[in-house]
Amino acid sequence: MSKLIASAGKGGTGKSTLAALTIKYLVSQGKTPVFAVDADPNYTLGDALGIAAETNIGLLREEFMDERATIPAGMSKNALLERQMQAAVQETKDIDLLVMGRQEGPGCYCALNDVLRNFLDMATGSYPYVVVDNEAGMEHLSRRTTRRIDSLVVVAEHSVKAARAAGRINQLVDELKLDVDRRFLLLNKVPGEPAPEVLAEIENSGLELIQALPYDEELARADAEGRPIVELPASNPTYDSLAGVLPRIVG
Ligand SMILES: Nc1ncnc2c1ncn2[C@@H]1O[C@H](COP(=O)(O)OP(=O)(O)OP(=O)(O)O)[C@@H](O)[C@H]1O
Ligand SMILES: [Mg+2]
Repeated sequence: MSKLIASAGKGGTGKSTLAALTIKYLVSQGKTPVFAVDADPNYTLGDALGIAAETNIGLLREEFMDERATIPAGMSKNALLERQMQAAVQETKDIDLLVMGRQEGPGCYCALNDVLRNFLDMATGSYPYVVVDNEAGMEHLSRRTTRRIDSLVVVAEHSVKAARAAGRINQLVDELKLDVDRRFLLLNKVPGEPAPEVLAEIENSGLELIQALPYDEELARADAEGRPIVELPASNPTYDSLAGVLPRIVG
């Protein structure tokens, strides 16, 4: 069974960056093909990976709705969806990318989430690792798009407030009784050493601080210029420090 690695945290903390660098690491270790899932309706993981996804689940679902009347005889709705999902996976040499996209119009993403959950169940057997890039906030946890998570990394910036917010995510995981094997806190964009006040709040959060990453000019520059994060050199300080702890995250 494949190992599933997911992230959570407030907006802009570095979840997608973490996902991209985790994928870079897995590829460097030959743990391929890596299954990359962009579960953020406002998807950016493809850019970080340098993969242009031609379609996404949301778009395919719209098409499916339009063409419902013409489902081939003998094919169930689920089988058709499954086939379309397969078509949504963008395959490259080492990484297969699935972009969830968004549902058109108002309302909740329930149907899309059901599809994603089923698809993940189906697909996970064929990949050693699945890395899910989540949207900001906590809603995706309540939606339970994955049945189990091997490693959940809560990404937070360096402040007491951010550490408290991370603690609330941890609480929610408990309350929802999510099947999460390991949980970590990753501090990102830390100016120098983490402040004692922040470390104390992390103690309260119940999460294990796995690493404190500094603000990284090279990474910020690459991202600003639209260069894929995975193309950063292995000597990049953020990648280098992450690579030191990723063996524990990926298990
Ligand atoms: N260690 C770092 N040093 C400098 N800049 C960083 C660092 N980590 C992330 N960034 C930058 O911060 C911004 C937000 O990062 P990212 O997109 O990974 O966050 P996110 O949590 O996925 O955001 P969202 O919630 O919007 O999906 C990006 O411009 C990224 O390049
Ligand atoms: Mg993101």
